[in-house]
Amino acid sequence: PRLWYLVPAAGVGSRMQADRPKQYLELTPGGSVLEATLTTLRRALPEAGLCLVLGAEDAYFTPTMVPWQEWLRADGGSERADSVLAGLECLSRVASDDDLVLVHDVARPCVRESDIQALVKAARESDDGAILAAPASDTMKRAAVLSHAVERTEGSAQRIAHTESRTGLWHAFTPQAFPLGLLRTALRAALAEQPERITDEASALEACGRSPVLVPAARDNLKITHPEDLAMARLLLAARED
Ligand code: C5P
Repeated sequence: PRLWYLVPAAGVGSRMQADRPKQYLELTPGGSVLEATLTTLRRALPEAGLCLVLGAEDAYFTPTMVPWQEWLRADGGSERADSVLAGLECLSRVASDDDLVLVHDVARPCVRESDIQALVKAARESDDGAILAAPASDTMKRAAVLSHAVERTEGSAQRIAHTESRTGLWHAFTPQAFPLGLLRTALRAALAEQPERITDEASALEACGRSPVLVPAARDNLKITHPEDLAMARLLLAARED
């Protein structure tokens, strides 16, 4: 079985409040988030193929940004899961159902090569795939459901209902790795039945009774979502010796 990366990069990144989608912002001197992410993926598994999912209207992308000679391009959908499914359908035309697909957010450029390699090993030993993750370390609060009147007087202020136990709680990162056929079937079914609950690939597998493996990963695999995340990612990458 072959290895494939599926990189959803069709988001508009509205929470960044930037003039362009976040994957095209400068992260390293002269290099974008998208270029940094793809370069790390390529280095971690030089033998893996690539399916890159881009917005149909994307005006910033140029093929020189991709460190692969040959790769597949798919058009993204309105939600992340739609983009991933579009990528899976595209891959299915050239790949086998037992090939391993690593889905990785373009917005996670700080993923470590050694974590990607550990993920592949774990996914190959699992029937249900595997994901990079880290145990929760903050105390987790459940916000109270506020009545309409309270919401009006207190603006956006929220009150605590209770503290959730963090024992056994993990943060899910990407990449997330599954056999192509298994993931395609699970994601199609989950999107048809409960699309709002599918915030990552593992959640689609869980919805059909599977239990993907949690592979402990470096905590600095952050997702660039808000403006301060970009500054943090720049510092993290600058501090790493290559
Ligand atoms: O916006 P958010 O950070 O949750 O997006 C996570 C990843 O999913 C990003 O890599 C983004 O480009 C991708 N995405 C996509 N298609 C969408 C929405 C997000 O490929 N419709």
